[in-house]
Amino acid sequence: MKTKILMVCLGNICRSPLAEGLLKSKLDTENFIVDSAGTGHWHVGNPPDPRSVKVAKAHNLDISAQRGMQFKPSLFEQYDHIFVMDQSNYTNVIRMADNQEQRDKVKLILDELFPAEQVDVPDPYTGGEQGFENVYQMLDEATTKIANRL
Ligand code: 4NP
Repeated sequence: MKTKILMVCLGNICRSPLAEGLLKSKLDTENFIVDSAGTGHWHVGNPPDPRSVKVAKAHNLDISAQRGMQFKPSLFEQYDHIFVMDQSNYTNVIRMADNQEQRDKVKLILDELFPAEQVDVPDPYTGGEQGFENVYQMLDEATTKIANRL
């Protein structure tokens, strides 16, 4: 059985597509499935934000084929690990869980780097390109840790 990992942010166009692409590039596809979703519905079916596609490409990562999906409660059963980008995503996802096993699957992704400090991956949507590079660097480090552990 493959281990299934889901990356979650708000829009599923900026942060979680980068997290998905990065982790996928560090795990073998024989044993792992990595996807992403947003708690919001606005970008379902859409490609990632062009600024995320661009920063990924600058680091030799192609995320352009990804398409947006909205998080829904049935995904708790489909995935083994659910990594959220910030505390607001955490609240929104946890609210949809209906048992402790489901709640235990949900982790703030930067807990990998700063355990129990509740550090968010900042939403770069309304900012400039530097914000996307910062997000890329944080997620690169966090996904390396996750890939080494899984
Ligand atoms: P993301 O960023 O959660 O990192 O994908 C956002 C993208 C779009 C919106 C919000 C956050 N939006 O409101 O459309």
